[in-house]
Amino acid sequence: MNVLAIESSCDETAAAVVVDGRVMRSNAVASQIDLHARYGGVVPEVASRQHLRNVGPIVSQALEEAGCTLDDIDAVAGTRGPGLAGSLLVGYNAAKAIAFGRELPFIGINHLEGHIYANWLIEGPEPRFPALCLVVSGGHTDLVFMEGHGQYQRLGGTRDDAAGEAFDKVGRLLGLPFPGGPHVAKAALRGGPGKLALPRAWMHGTFDFSFSGLKTASLHAIRSEKYAPDDVAWEFQEAVVDVLSGKTSRLARELGAAEVLVAGGVAANQRLREELHRRCPVPVRIPPPKLCTDNAAMIGAVAGHRLAMGQRSPLDEDIFTTNQWARV
Ligand code: KG4
Ligand code: ZN
Repeated sequence: MNVLAIESSCDETAAAVVVDGRVMRSNAVASQIDLHARYGGVVPEVASRQHLRNVGPIVSQALEEAGCTLDDIDAVAGTRGPGLAGSLLVGYNAAKAIAFGRELPFIGINHLEGHIYANWLIEGPEPRFPALCLVVSGGHTDLVFMEGHGQYQRLGGTRDDAAGEAFDKVGRLLGLPFPGGPHVAKAALRGGPGKLALPRAWMHGTFDFSFSGLKTASLHAIRSEKYAPDDVAWEFQEAVVDVLSGKTSRLARELGAAEVLVAGGVAANQRLREELHRRCPVPVRIPPPKLCTDNAAMIGAVAGHRLAMGQRSPLDEDIFTTNQWARV
């Protein structure tokens, strides 16, 4: 089954053609990073207007790169939420319009579930259940137990900033371009250990996270001008990676998970990838960086599985904007 998927939850307009939820025929992404960089963050109104400009061309590009036309498409999927309302509405309604116009089945997909399913796009054997999923993106940091397709139990998450948000804010404090994550990681390569100590919030007795204290401590370290910015970047990254990999590996052991699935933009972080592989007691699966950040192939991957189970969404279904694992 060829699914055309559209994703527009934040600042990437993306479209992809995915076969049976497993094989990518195309994965086109129009990034708005340059547009938002001058503001130091995503401006929702600017994002939705740009999605409107991009959505038609990106769908054409995805079809062309897949070597097919709408005649070859069997179903259409769109990201339903969570995300920015104005952004979501553009891609979601474009997907609905194509489904309506072509009389094709339509399905709305949870963006966070999409990040997890990027792991189904990796060639080779499928992920095994039960899986522990670490979702680390710009908006979310969740530990989710997945016992089967569509079966999620959220066991922990951030109580304040998401991991990616913390990277972006510290990047900004260090005077690095937006989004900060990859730039902080690059600066950390030039920095080193032993210069300063930043706090790790272990939130004992829970599998929750908190990154706001680390962010404030980083601010004070930068303002003190006692440390090289690259060393602050190094220690900040180590603190985030230490807590994420420490909690994930412990929970995987406690739950007897068959695998750990990592997802979301921060999963592109090389140090996080290394530490998760080193510390987890079970195999760790992490998509290649291009499938970690926002894309539509991951949405097509969920859609393929859900459509195969007979699920469809009504064309009058609304978007949603907040983190809801119950709503997948
Ligand atoms: O999943 P994503 O593309 O969008 C959301 O759904 O939020 O994640 C974007 C986040 C940003 O905060 C970005 O700074 C972060 O992922 N990120 C990274 C890296 N690459 C992207 N953070 C740390 N290291 C990276 N290499
Ligand atoms: Zn995302």
